[in-house]
Amino acid sequence: MSYIIKIVFITATFININSNPEQFEPRKITILGTGYVGLVTGVCLASFGHEIICADIDSNKIGLLQKNIIPIYEPGLAKLLETAINSKKISFTDNIETSIQNSDIIFIAVGTPMNKAGKTDLTAIEETFEIISENLNKPKLICMKSTVPIGTCKMLKKVLKRKNEHLTEIAFNPEFLKEGSAISDFLEPDRLVLGGSNRSIEILKKIYLPLIKKNVPVLSTDTITAETIKYASNSFLATKISYINEIARLCDVIGADCNVVAQGMGLDKRIGDKFLKAGPGYGGSCFPKDSQELLYISRYHNKPLKILEAVIDTNNSQCQYIFEKFLKLMDNNLENKTIAILGLSFKPNTDDVRYSPAIDFIHNLQKYNCKINAYDPIAIENMRKEIHDINYIDNIEDTCKNVDGIVILTEWQNIKDINLERLVDLVNKPVLFDTRNIINTDLLKKLGYKYTNIGNAKIN
Ligand code: UDX
Repeated sequence: MSYIIKIVFITATFININSNPEQFEPRKITILGTGYVGLVTGVCLASFGHEIICADIDSNKIGLLQKNIIPIYEPGLAKLLETAINSKKISFTDNIETSIQNSDIIFIAVGTPMNKAGKTDLTAIEETFEIISENLNKPKLICMKSTVPIGTCKMLKKVLKRKNEHLTEIAFNPEFLKEGSAISDFLEPDRLVLGGSNRSIEILKKIYLPLIKKNVPVLSTDTITAETIKYASNSFLATKISYINEIARLCDVIGADCNVVAQGMGLDKRIGDKFLKAGPGYGGSCFPKDSQELLYISRYHNKPLKILEAVIDTNNSQCQYIFEKFLKLMDNNLENKTIAILGLSFKPNTDDVRYSPAIDFIHNLQKYNCKINAYDPIAIENMRKEIHDINYIDNIEDTCKNVDGIVILTEWQNIKDINLERLVDLVNKPVLFDTRNIINTDLLKKLGYKYTNIGNAKIN
């Protein structure tokens, strides 16, 4: 088939020539990967009215999902999934091949974790594209949701063109989902970034029409620019966090109140008040990986991002900084002491412990001959896979019983609401390190706690 006829065929296949851009058209969409991003994307696109096939090589995970059992914790996901299943708008399969053959549009949401060398591991992407190249039975749109190194979509399009006769578009549509608020982040995004050819972008605009009708800004560009937006955005958010964490270190010695400094900064609309909370350092599956990847590609092109180097160094040293603060609070004596850790997930409202500050903090504690009690509302089982030989306890009071020091590492609401008076009767000694600046300092003082937090914050 000549190239021109192919183009006409693709256009005819993907875009109904008479289609009204304002007219919503339900599409059949396959989503490869059923993790945090794939599942949230699937149930939200189903809520728009599309017909979704969620596919994953993990048959156990697919079996659970078919029984409406979700293997991850994400507020609001269960309800949307139940609605999608009841309206027959979503199905689950471990048959990747047929899921590719049966849809015109394929979203890719497989994992792209960081490997030990700090580079993005593209194994899952490569394996997925191998299967796609063998099962592309007609021209399709492939939409990359996974965060992939800058230039990956362009490279994959070339690879696919060599391996399969059907002309295929590859677009990049980054997710900006925060774990714990992913559903609302998807349904009320600050913007849609669509990277790809004009044809791809027109198709994606039709898919996202319910958002566009709510005046969500759409930025259309090429795939390389869209990939760069994703990395630059996450790296800038990480920059804000490392910046306030460094300001907090200064506040610790000059006597300024870091929370009030952040508040004073955030009132400037040019700065904004988000991502200025000092703490134990950023964790999660994205900031550590994405900032490292952007730094890597900048060095590869001999344009090293000096600011980003400092951001990563600050975050990597933050755990040592807070651990030394804790040692000082404990008069440099952890021998035979019992320490309570409150909060294991990298942030509240998630069971995810990937790159959680709690991992490094507990590893530091284990260098001393001390007993460790650890609590988290929902992340204990995930942390147990990382660290086995500590005492996991499913409630705050028993975690704090007869302890010599309490360390708060995650700002779960029920940790914010701990009963300080009750704890005074339970602990050996009332000593508390609040790395999230969430506990009332006046009350701590009144109850006789020996305490410290991050950046000399006065919390009321
Ligand atoms: C992030 C991005 O926000 C999201 O847009 C992207 O799609 C995925 O990565 P996530 O990692 O889920 O989302 O959580 P986020 O809320 O961004 O927090 C990341 C880390 O920064 C957490 O460890 C959190 O505790 C820390 N953080 C966040 C701070 O230390 N201070 C802050 O003010 C905000």
